[in-house]
Amino acid sequence: MSQLFTPYSIKDVTFRNRIGMSPMCQYSAIDGVMNDWHRVHLGSRAAGGAGLIIAEATAVRADGRITPGCTGLWSDDQIEPAAKINQFIVDQGAVPAVQIGHAGRKGSAARPWDGGAHLKDDEGGWPIVGPSGTAFDDDAIRLWKTPTQMSVTDIAQMQVAFVDAAKRALAAGYKMLEIHGAHGYLLHSFFTPLVNTRDDEYGGDLRGRARMMLETVDAVRAVWPENLPLAVRLSVADWIEGGLTIEDNIQMAKWVKERGVDIIDCSGGGATPAARASIGSRTGDQVGLAGKLRAEAGIATMAVGEITEAKQAEEIIASGQADIVLLARKMMRDPYWAMHAATELGVDVKAHVPLQYGFYMK
Ligand SMILES: Cc1cc2nc3c(=O)[nH]c(=O)nc-3n(C[C@H](O)[C@H](O)[C@H](O)COP(=O)(O)O)c2cc1C
Repeated sequence: MSQLFTPYSIKDVTFRNRIGMSPMCQYSAIDGVMNDWHRVHLGSRAAGGAGLIIAEATAVRADGRITPGCTGLWSDDQIEPAAKINQFIVDQGAVPAVQIGHAGRKGSAARPWDGGAHLKDDEGGWPIVGPSGTAFDDDAIRLWKTPTQMSVTDIAQMQVAFVDAAKRALAAGYKMLEIHGAHGYLLHSFFTPLVNTRDDEYGGDLRGRARMMLETVDAVRAVWPENLPLAVRLSVADWIEGGLTIEDNIQMAKWVKERGVDIIDCSGGGATPAARASIGSRTGDQVGLAGKLRAEAGIATMAVGEITEAKQAEEIIASGQADIVLLARKMMRDPYWAMHAATELGVDVKAHVPLQYGFYMK
């Protein structure tokens, strides 16, 4: 009996299996609004059998986009196009989720295929903010902008933007919400000592650096319905001397669990150019850390990073390292990965694909 294909419930939401598509920026929105590209990108993985579809890093404010092509939930105009996609995902039997976040000092960049360098204001960029006034990278070629250090008032306003985005996510029909606290973007940059050098109540020791995340979780949980799951993606290790460790993140997981977070999405890296491991050399190590965090913080986890094979995914769930596996690059190459995995594991594939396809399968 496959554990990977055993349904899983958090609160009132049931996932038909433990396979999710990891959030992947598509850099294809205009003014933060989703379009047919997102419909096909997300919808095809739902039709392909995944139980959970997490839409890409979605900005809570326009200045929170990574690139001009990133999606957003800062305006009511962004609700309806997302709602149509989510209805399609639900119709295919999958759960639509969205990752909300703010890019912080890593915002205002060109799309990867336009070079990925920082965009100056006269190139379509915008002013950026962060916990401290240090640039992501002072590399002479990339010349990343220097962020403005956020005041306590700026912080309060940012938390309101997270709350408003959560309300719009609900209106758009998302059934699970993920707060982006990884990869060097705003919330992670507050938590990691590699970036946060503040000496006020939002900096200093671990608890001070965690304050931004914890207050944001409190504010979002207050508007995100009790019966729907709330996730946080963490960089469970910074992978660099002096950065966050798995122990720091186990503590963070305990704190957010107390505040009503249901599951931790265990990613890694990204705080500084030297720790740019979000899709780098250490991604494969994240799965083991998801297991450690699950055991020691007593919270459900999603494991991500170089999960490519059905048996590997089955083993991650069966051994208790995670409750859900997320795939990014592999699912980019194969929208029907879940369907193929079901076949390989001898599972009745019909229960995991749309009737239009399943009817014709053995
Ligand atoms: C094109 C692309 C875009 C990504 N965008 C996001 C994103 O929006 N939010 C996020 O947390 N991670 C993002 N990631 C990271 C993935 O979600 C995932 O954690 C990482 O690729 C490791 O998983 P994999 O080995 O299955 O690819 C992105 C990865 C890729 C390849």
